[in-house]
Amino acid sequence: MIHQSENCKQLHIKQFLVTDRNSLPEQFGGFNDVCLIILPSDRQSNTYKIINELIENVAGSSGPEATLTVLGETADLVHVHAKLSLSMQYQLWIGIKRTQPKVAENNSALPNCHFGALVHTKYKGSLKHTKTRVKYSYCPVCDKTTKDYGGKKHIYDSYGTLISDVWRDISADLEGDLNHVIRRFSDLFGIQTYTELIVLDCRGIKTGSQKDKMVEERVEYGKQSSLFAPHSKETPERGKLISGDVLEKLSQVPDNSVDFVFADPPYNLKKKYNSYADDLSIAEYFEWCDRWIYELARTLKPGRTCAILNIPLWAIRHFLYMEKMLRFQNWIVWDALSFPVRLIMPSHYAIICFSKGTPRPLPGLTHGTDDSQIPGQSDTFQPLEPLGEGFCLRRRCIKARQKKQVNDRGPLTDVWWDIHRLKHNSRRVDHPCQLPSPLMYRLINIFTEPGETVLDCFNGTGTTTLTAHQLNRQYIGIEVSGKYHDIAKSRHKEIRMGMDPFRKVVRKLTEKNSPVRRRPKQKYKIPKKTLQLEVRRVARTLDRLPTRDEMLEHGEYPIEYYDKYFVSWGEVCAAARHDGMSENREPDCNLRTATNQLKLFE
Ligand SMILES: C[S@@+](CC[C@H](N)C(=O)[O-])C[C@H]1O[C@@H](n2cnc3c(N)ncnc32)[C@H](O)[C@@H]1O
Repeated sequence: MIHQSENCKQLHIKQFLVTDRNSLPEQFGGFNDVCLIILPSDRQSNTYKIINELIENVAGSSGPEATLTVLGETADLVHVHAKLSLSMQYQLWIGIKRTQPKVAENNSALPNCHFGALVHTKYKGSLKHTKTRVKYSYCPVCDKTTKDYGGKKHIYDSYGTLISDVWRDISADLEGDLNHVIRRFSDLFGIQTYTELIVLDCRGIKTGSQKDKMVEERVEYGKQSSLFAPHSKETPERGKLISGDVLEKLSQVPDNSVDFVFADPPYNLKKKYNSYADDLSIAEYFEWCDRWIYELARTLKPGRTCAILNIPLWAIRHFLYMEKMLRFQNWIVWDALSFPVRLIMPSHYAIICFSKGTPRPLPGLTHGTDDSQIPGQSDTFQPLEPLGEGFCLRRRCIKARQKKQVNDRGPLTDVWWDIHRLKHNSRRVDHPCQLPSPLMYRLINIFTEPGETVLDCFNGTGTTTLTAHQLNRQYIGIEVSGKYHDIAKSRHKEIRMGMDPFRKVVRKLTEKNSPVRRRPKQKYKIPKKTLQLEVRRVARTLDRLPTRDEMLEHGEYPIEYYDKYFVSWGEVCAAARHDGMSENREPDCNLRTATNQLKLFE
């Protein structure tokens, strides 16, 4: 196994093959364990009525502690959630890597390389599960961990990192053997409350006679002619930054005039924006979202793509609205580097892509790109050629790979993991959730040709429009905050002066981008690492984590340092919980890659 679950009481796995209505297990009354339903991957089969009944049966009759996980294709899980949300609590959407990508005809979508696991519980509150870690992965060239842990190795676990909501360390296919995925769920939920994992495998359900699809109220594009009928012959304003409210300003953009619309809306998670309260009620939030999504669809040219970035739960709701007028292309799993804020690290952001009518072949898949002109592009990032799975980003290793001509590129699919959220303040301007420019380089390169028009209706400090500008696209950016609008304007001016707006600059920032609390910058008389290692020493003599009073009594350093340098006692004790880790692959490890790839190229 390439994971480890702390104090796991492995569940007894009971598998049932569900082939028709009569083969459903009968008694789910009061069922209080974990159930895993596996859906067929073939969306054409007329099986949904039986599956819907099954899911409703399990959800309706399960007891107050039950957990239900459904494995399936993205588009199916969206509908499963719509049904389950009436009787169960949403907990998690896990993206799981496919072994065999599914390639769309005519390059009309990115190769699909993931399916999902949707987790709901009968109880409210956070998901109960074991603390599960995934083994560190190692770069096949330098044999060091894929991620650089820098000066923090002493506070990390020796085995691996906490599991996240994107599983790329294992892969499977919905049509194939799912045993290792099932086994992982039996460990993840191997806690005292549960004894059994009931697996209902619906992949063998026989086709029924009725055409009962999951999408029941579908409005075919074209039937709602009034929605998209052209009402204006004006050409859109090009290269425009517009200050104002999304709905008011979008209404001035003509129908069928934009080649790519993108939205990175406020997530309604109480972020502190400069002039926007990010805390509407859920109903108000979605009513508002539906209105601007409708406007975006109206402004989009036929055959072009609308992409919306949001957390998976909100993306599900956007999906249900969008599919009534647009056509689903991709759910891009952006596996963004996550903060370890929960036991399952939230690193899955969804970018849902829908086309207006039949999609055209995606320009980036058909023609490729010429990004040699973009200033400041790092030598590792290429918009249409992602870094291959597992290669590290250490400068020395990158240089060695380039020198030895190691091919460290992987295929472009709908799972993106080589783009990190902005970590260093030197790349940030004063905005709490600025996107990294590589994300927009990739999206714009995939979905547009040079000269075409890109629109972002929540443009913030301009990541989208700046990237479009650099890539010789036309752009329209709408932003309600005067402050962010002005920052975007001055950064476009920098491009016109031949500068790179994404270059590293030391700025005084007032808006926080991380949920992790930090102390102000200060000089440390004793390094924090030394203090944390001292706590580890004391913890070992006491055989438990020490309190502040115990550090006062047994510790070698003045207690004021602990008070001044750390945000919490939890941080003080961080190294005492683990043995620390090494970034080097263990020498006797069988997985060692053919005494590393470099030699192959010598
Ligand atoms: C998640 S941020 C987008 C950040 C942007 N992608 C960037 O990289 O800078 C959402 C933005 O939407 C803006 N916003 C919120 N409500 C708005 C509205 N009604 N009309 C236009 N913009 C709005 C916020 O001020 C914020 O800058």
